[in-house]
Amino acid sequence: MRQTQQTFQKDQIEQDQSILKLQLARLIQNKRNIKKFYREKGIQTISTPELINIIGKGSFGLVIKAIYLDKQVAIKIIQIKEEINIDKLKQEQKLLEKFQDSKYLLNLRKTAYAKLSSPLLFIFTDLCEGELTDLINKKISKKQIISIMVQLLVGLEELQQMKIIHVDIKPQNILYNHQNGNYQVKIADFGQAKQLQDKDFTDNLTRAGTLKYTSKEILNDDEKIGYKSDIYSLGIVFIELIFGRLFDYQQDIKPLKQGKWDILSQRPKVENRIFDKIDDFLIEKIIKNMIQSNQHERKDSHELLSLIFQEFLTNHQQTQISFYEKCMDKVMNQF
Ligand SMILES: Nc1ncnc2c1ncn2[C@@H]1O[C@H](COP(=O)(O)OP(=O)(O)O)[C@@H](O)[C@H]1O
Ligand SMILES: [Mg+2]
Repeated sequence: MRQTQQTFQKDQIEQDQSILKLQLARLIQNKRNIKKFYREKGIQTISTPELINIIGKGSFGLVIKAIYLDKQVAIKIIQIKEEINIDKLKQEQKLLEKFQDSKYLLNLRKTAYAKLSSPLLFIFTDLCEGELTDLINKKISKKQIISIMVQLLVGLEELQQMKIIHVDIKPQNILYNHQNGNYQVKIADFGQAKQLQDKDFTDNLTRAGTLKYTSKEILNDDEKIGYKSDIYSLGIVFIELIFGRLFDYQQDIKPLKQGKWDILSQRPKVENRIFDKIDDFLIEKIIKNMIQSNQHERKDSHELLSLIFQEFLTNHQQTQISFYEKCMDKVMNQF
């Protein structure tokens, strides 16, 4: 049932995207029109962003690179159609507003509404250099992997402290900037995210995501879904970062639902990217724990960070994000 819905949704999304892409391509061709477009179609309250190019396409629209108030920004343009749940869109906006000061979650700069042939929502965020997908199958050092791991775990810890499950952690939704061999990474795309209320679990979740990053509990209607679901997806991201890109899961969904899919046996043989070469028992232990199919055996972000920071952090200590950062500095200096 979910499978059929996914296929339908995918066709629809592709069709919507090509329409939006065509509209934008026409605008890009005629640069003078761009200003007119923003002026006429509703973003009167802000100065006109200057469109540079299209940098991404996602499930609901396009992401463009633009200059706004002399700064480069990314603008995600979402077509608001009748079948889109407006409350969900507003929720993405509301969530992003919470992350203004976070180092590890993508920062929102502005939102605006406009109307072309259909109403559009514009989400302005800080422009990043690329997405984590770009780093897969590239040479990356052990130090860089640990640094990326720590940053993303702190990002997930921040989300958990705000009672948010991201639900769609994958390399495309993790952005990076790069300076002197250091990667600063940020978790992005909160379009599927779920804000929990009183409890730390939910059973009320619909998603159409990439199967290979999807935890067992999301596929099983009778299981509750909590923060550890994002931990599983992040584990798969690290497998790809270390071993190379994994094939998309196209097979029978049953073994996945039963937690019987052995992802480690599926890894592509990328010669110099195996655990032995990474030569780190700790990384191996952490990643293997993250991808446990039984969520109760998976550690949470704080427990995983405690493993990395060892002597600096005890397991159930109540911890502020700034404290993790102090630990991070100390640990990274050891490499
Ligand atoms: N701030 C940004 N800087 C650089 N690239 C971005 C930015 N925001 C989004 N992108 C690119 O656009 C793609 C789609 O954006 P995303 O927010 O994931 O939308 P969707 O919900 O449609 O998947 C991302 O995978 C990324 O490649
Ligand atoms: Mg995305």
